[in-house]
Amino acid sequence: MIIVGIESTAHTFGIGIIKASENSVEVLTNAKDSYSSPDKGMIPNEIAEHHKKVWQDVEKKSFEEAKVFWDDVDFISYSAGPGLDPALWQGYNIAKELSEKHSKRLVPVNHCCAHLSIGKIVNNAQDPVYLYVSGVNTQIIVFDGGKYRVIGETLDIGLGNMLDKFGRVVGLGFPAGPAIEQLALKGEYIELPYSVKGMDMSFSGLLSKCQQLIEKGVTKTEDLCFSLQETTFAICAEVAERALAQTGKKELILVGGVGANKRLCTMLEKMCLDRGATFYKVPMALAGDQGAMIAWEGYLRRDEKRVMEVDPHWRTDEV
Ligand code: ATP
Ligand code: FE2
Repeated sequence: MIIVGIESTAHTFGIGIIKASENSVEVLTNAKDSYSSPDKGMIPNEIAEHHKKVWQDVEKKSFEEAKVFWDDVDFISYSAGPGLDPALWQGYNIAKELSEKHSKRLVPVNHCCAHLSIGKIVNNAQDPVYLYVSGVNTQIIVFDGGKYRVIGETLDIGLGNMLDKFGRVVGLGFPAGPAIEQLALKGEYIELPYSVKGMDMSFSGLLSKCQQLIEKGVTKTEDLCFSLQETTFAICAEVAERALAQTGKKELILVGGVGANKRLCTMLEKMCLDRGATFYKVPMALAGDQGAMIAWEGYLRRDEKRVMEVDPHWRTDEV
């Protein structure tokens, strides 16, 4: 099957085209264009405007690169949520327009599930535990009884958002994760609050503590960066290990933007090695927001006949 996947939930507008069959995906193209604004962060209406401005160029590029024609396409899938409301509607309207113009049916999919599903297929994993660490999300997920289940998550803010908030206070720009990773290489450990409750995590106390230390002005930024990473990544590794132990599963997949961090990968890899599990991450090209993962998730959901437009708060475990 040839499937067109449309991504629009946040800063990226993407169109991916895949060739899919049982247990295999070939990405023919993954064209995208991302909105950026170094000083202002993400402004939802501006993002929707961005998507509206670039979509036709992205469409053209994707079909040229994939060397396919609309006649070859079986159906269109699109990100129906979660995400920014104006961006989602923009993506939906584009998907609907293309669907009507080319007489292709629409398959709405969940953006977060798409991150998980593409991670599984590209690693050829069998039955993994997922650690999903992005800006908004920090969750431990398993697939059980035909659906994704969130078995642990942050009780307050997502780890990426916490790193970005810390970064704003110390002037590291947005997103702050990569800058924190670099500064951490020169830092030393100081003790910070460590909060795990079963398989749930909490990061806001840690952020407050860092803010207090910054205000006092005696702790070096490098030391805070290093210690923030050590503490939060140890929290992630602890809950991931607990999830492996409780479920008896033997594979861990790391997904989400914070997964770009080498130290986090090293810690998780070591934990998996120690307990005889396999650690997987997602190749860069398929780790961020893009349309190919939406197309693959659409392939998996093609028979569900879901009727919806968009849902900005659609949770992984509601699918
Ligand atoms: P989603 O809605 O799919 O959950 P998102 O838009 O919230 O995604 P991502 O794009 O997956 O988030 O990830 C962005 C986050 O990843 C940012 O908070 C950023 O600081 C963080 N990040 C990126 N690179 C690194 C890194 N090297 N180390 C730590 N954090 C990183
Ligand atoms: Fe995403």
